[in-house]
Amino acid sequence: MSQHSIQKRVTAPDIRARKGGEPIVSLTSYHAHTAAIADKYVDFLLVGDSLGMVMHGFETTLPVPLELMIMHGRAVTRGAKHALVVVDMPFGSYEESPAQAFRNAARVIKETECGAIKLEGGARMAETIKFLTERGIPVMAHIGLTPQSINVLGGFKAQGRERAGWPIIEEDARAVTEAGAFAVVLEAVAEPLAAKITKAISIPTIGIGASASCDGQILVMEDMLGLSPKVARFVKEFGKVGIAIEGAIKTYAEDVRSRAFPGAENVYEVKD
Ligand code: KIV
Repeated sequence: MSQHSIQKRVTAPDIRARKGGEPIVSLTSYHAHTAAIADKYVDFLLVGDSLGMVMHGFETTLPVPLELMIMHGRAVTRGAKHALVVVDMPFGSYEESPAQAFRNAARVIKETECGAIKLEGGARMAETIKFLTERGIPVMAHIGLTPQSINVLGGFKAQGRERAGWPIIEEDARAVTEAGAFAVVLEAVAEPLAAKITKAISIPTIGIGASASCDGQILVMEDMLGLSPKVARFVKEFGKVGIAIEGAIKTYAEDVRSRAFPGAENVYEVKD
């Protein structure tokens, strides 16, 4: 392979170094072919545990097993050759102890060849983040609305809408930064709080329904494509893929029923 054909993959330190610079572009990805398309435009791809809801029809992310994350993680690292691939640690795979988190995160890295993992939680996960980063595992943190804590939060609710709640979220951001996270997702955090945190901490903030002043943005790919039946209020649809899929399937069904497909040009003839 010539030097020219070797494309360098984005690393966690590359993302960390983008603090305060050009906005970081990211999307979730669960699938090799769409990962290959997105790879041309994004800095990192997150194999989010939202795949449990988006791909597998669960009501929450809680039932997602580690094996499913590994399977989708492998697909994405096969599809994307340039973007950093970050794989989410699913509920129950890391919260018990730093040792449990290391064992499972090391398995994710070995089996998917991803470049980093993401886990949910702020100050309470700081010890684990430090343990992992000191042992060679780059960690992206995730604070604000943390969907794996849905049963404690009481629903998919925006965080920091009352100023009284800000100090806890600010402390979470500070704690994950000090613990060594290379970036932090701020999900559904009130705009002025997300802007304040972005100014205060030294690692990139990646917003989802947070603030345009975050260091980067992420959306669930199926949501921004217009493929998800139900999306959060903050989601902007950049495409109408659901409508395009339905139109194509409807035409296919009509063609099959009217015997227009396969046409003469699509069938193999016997050669004598
Ligand atoms: O699982 C996921 O897709 C996520 C993003 C919403 C950040 O964590």
